[in-house]
Amino acid sequence: MPKFYLTTPIYYPSGKFHIGTAYTTALADTIKKYKQARGYDVYLLTGMDEHGQKIQQVAEARGKTPQEHVDEMAEEAKKLWKLMEIDYNDFIRTTEPRHEKVVEEIFDKLMEQGDIYLSEYEGWYCMPCETYFTETQLVDGKCPECGREVKKMKEESYFFNMKKYANRLIDFYNQNPNFILPESRKNELFNNFLKPGLEDLCVSRTSFDWGIKVKKDPKHVVYVWLDALTNYITALGYLSEDDSLMQKYWPADVHIVGKDIIRFHGIYWPIFLMALNLPLPKQIYAHGWIMMKDGKMSKSKGNVIYPEALIERYGLDAFKYFILKELSYSQDGTFTPEGFVERYNVDLCNDLGNLLNRTIGMINKYFNGKIEAFPQNTSTLDKELENFSNGTIHSVEEYFDTYHISQAIGETWNLVSRTNKYIDETTPWVLFKEEKMEELQSVMYHLVENLRRIAILISPYMVHTSQKILSELSIPQELKNWESMKKYDEIKNIKVTEKPEVLFARLDQEEEIEAIKNMMK
Ligand code: MSP
Repeated sequence: MPKFYLTTPIYYPSGKFHIGTAYTTALADTIKKYKQARGYDVYLLTGMDEHGQKIQQVAEARGKTPQEHVDEMAEEAKKLWKLMEIDYNDFIRTTEPRHEKVVEEIFDKLMEQGDIYLSEYEGWYCMPCETYFTETQLVDGKCPECGREVKKMKEESYFFNMKKYANRLIDFYNQNPNFILPESRKNELFNNFLKPGLEDLCVSRTSFDWGIKVKKDPKHVVYVWLDALTNYITALGYLSEDDSLMQKYWPADVHIVGKDIIRFHGIYWPIFLMALNLPLPKQIYAHGWIMMKDGKMSKSKGNVIYPEALIERYGLDAFKYFILKELSYSQDGTFTPEGFVERYNVDLCNDLGNLLNRTIGMINKYFNGKIEAFPQNTSTLDKELENFSNGTIHSVEEYFDTYHISQAIGETWNLVSRTNKYIDETTPWVLFKEEKMEELQSVMYHLVENLRRIAILISPYMVHTSQKILSELSIPQELKNWESMKKYDEIKNIKVTEKPEVLFARLDQEEEIEAIKNMMK
């Protein structure tokens, strides 16, 4: 079985996770479910990035020790992933001994081989981002990443000799043009960081102590990015007694990250791996951000929206549908209550829900709920629909394979619309009146067949809806899997449900927009 190792970033436990954090995880989970459906042995890693000054400060503000704080947050995170039915294989926490021990060793090894050296660092430090910037990187004297105040700081630090590896990385980029996705982000990294010449990276701190101590110089703690990035291999047992997962799954097939952390994943991580003499991940995909009407989500603006409230009111499938559809491959998306309610009513309730209900209603009315076999005679309209849906399968696969999840969803909904249009074109009620039962039977067959395909196409992100559709149509088990979707003539002797359940009940627009506005904090 081919293997596929994918990861989410490990999240900072600095506050409750909002729909942005949920997005990265939902995206990774969708890719996992898709790959599994295509026959891969998939390993999905997620976790928490628990060290650093900011976490220490947040814990203090809550009157907790950092450990108490991160323990609570890890439980919260796991609860959310359970609610979202995230099928992760491992949840790594950087405070676990299995991680800390290996990071200590990695640091030691890199020091011994001369890649890490002691010096002094001076720069502009952004506390929330835990990142130093050079004077020229600042935007209007503020942090170029979050726009907040920065402070001039100086401290004795260990540095990683990035310069030594810069040319090797440039060669790697040139030889692997799809290493960083989307291409626009690769160009950004290349032009803004690699081309002007890499600075060595500061990899330790003495200004706080909530971190992994440098074994040979314990007044230093390992800077959070070297600590954090290595989670992708410590979780697989790198340098530990049992490294069978490492043998099996490394290198990662894809690291899924947000655009804000592509620099760390696209430059520093590959260089750390080169220094450790390990193969580099095959791809790094950086997605955009979920924005609000008034910019980024922030508590001070009171525009933060959390997944739990949306899932509780509208269900998991509708929530995932919205966020995954909204962020197109390389772009940001916007969450608005109006947009959410509209997508729910139009795409889910009208387009998909009605297609299923109309189809089941007609099969019951015209044929006592039964579909016997693939029709003997197919009309031009039937053939057109079949061809269209063959094309849909092909492009959905291509989009999924290249992480264009929103586009894969869009293609699927084009098939939903095309199938609805097929009803209008074939006018089954006229066929019935004119007693053209053979033609009518054929139309019903094609409707069921396309609904079956739609249900399978949405299965990586709308698990419940997919199962409901397949079960209401009473599709046999062997025709529910991805590969079976490529057949078009195998449904035989099925009897659809008499009373279809409403998949997505129509929402009262004004009421629900108000309800969602009230969820924002
Ligand atoms: N701890 C680091 C990652 C270390 S990985 C070795 C970190 N954590 S984070 O909690 O701040 O962010 C985690 C992920 O959530 C990032 O990929 C980030 O892009 C994503 N998102 C945070 N807000 C987001 C949106 N509003 N929209 C989409 N994703 C966003 O960075």
